[in-house]
Amino acid sequence: DKAEDLTDRAPVVTIMGHVDHGKTSLLDAIRNANVVSGEAGGITQHIGAYQVEKNGAKITFLDTPGHEAFTAMRARGAQATDIAILVVAADDSVMPQTIESIKHAKAAGVPIIVAITKMDKPSADPQKVRTELLQHEVFVETMGGDVLDVEVSAKTGAGLDKLLETILLQAEVLELKVARDGRAEGLVIEAKLDRGRGAVATVLVQRGTLAIGDILVAGTEFARVRALINDQGEQVKSAGPSVPVEVLGFTGVPNAGDRFSVVESEARAREVTEYRQRAIREKTAGGGAT
Ligand code: GTP
Ligand code: NA
Ligand code: MG
Repeated sequence: DKAEDLTDRAPVVTIMGHVDHGKTSLLDAIRNANVVSGEAGGITQHIGAYQVEKNGAKITFLDTPGHEAFTAMRARGAQATDIAILVVAADDSVMPQTIESIKHAKAAGVPIIVAITKMDKPSADPQKVRTELLQHEVFVETMGGDVLDVEVSAKTGAGLDKLLETILLQAEVLELKVARDGRAEGLVIEAKLDRGRGAVATVLVQRGTLAIGDILVAGTEFARVRALINDQGEQVKSAGPSVPVEVLGFTGVPNAGDRFSVVESEARAREVTEYRQRAIREKTAGGGAT
């Protein structure tokens, strides 16, 4: 029975909103309030994505700037996120990039949770935020709609628990079930050339389980997975659905937004990536590149 092969996976959340409205502060505050114990004294590895646990359930946060995550990935037809957190500063209300963020989330069909932040500020006016959001067809619950909203402060930590609970509530509605077994597939979240470690990529596993020794193809590059490093900076043997993990062993640097999949052999990986590289060269040569 196919249904029995599916398991719940953590919701993948992106934070979006206007410049300086407090996206990074909110991500940091959530992370710092929910670090896994045993990490004390250690320096948290920054891999552009992390997971927190709330009431026994996990949430994956993508640390990539919301707009880039949406535009780069959506351009490739890839959907990275399940829920968009729209951060709106309570003292500044709806601004141009707030509106852009709403458009991106709606175009991607991703549900929005509104985080009205900087609530510690004396000039905070959350009601103004809710009212202005109406004009952009974001109807929060207290305004008769079904968009969930939470008042928070990254500075004091107020509302952060409620935000996590709200994310899990939204995730329940989405019924995020996926196959845990089988060859992994997913997305490259970010990638770089690292001095000591060579080409490294942070990937988000979307289905199946990625393991050391797997042969992975991402865009025009491939990897024989040499090591997997989790968001705590620890080496792990495998990563299941919704788990962000850093992959070592790439032959070249893939692009953020590339889909990845595990293939049966290195020969197959070479065949696929050489084909793709050739296709790009031919397109460039024949396409009258400027
Ligand atoms: P960009 O990435 O540049 O778009 O900014 P951002 O949205 O990530 O905002 P960031 O977290 O950098 O915060 C911008 C400013 O707002 C900083 O000076 C923060 O200290 C301040 N700030 C963020 N959250 C809060 C908050 O909850 N309360 C108060 N009082 N200040 C905050
Ligand atoms: Na900023
Ligand atoms: Mg920021």
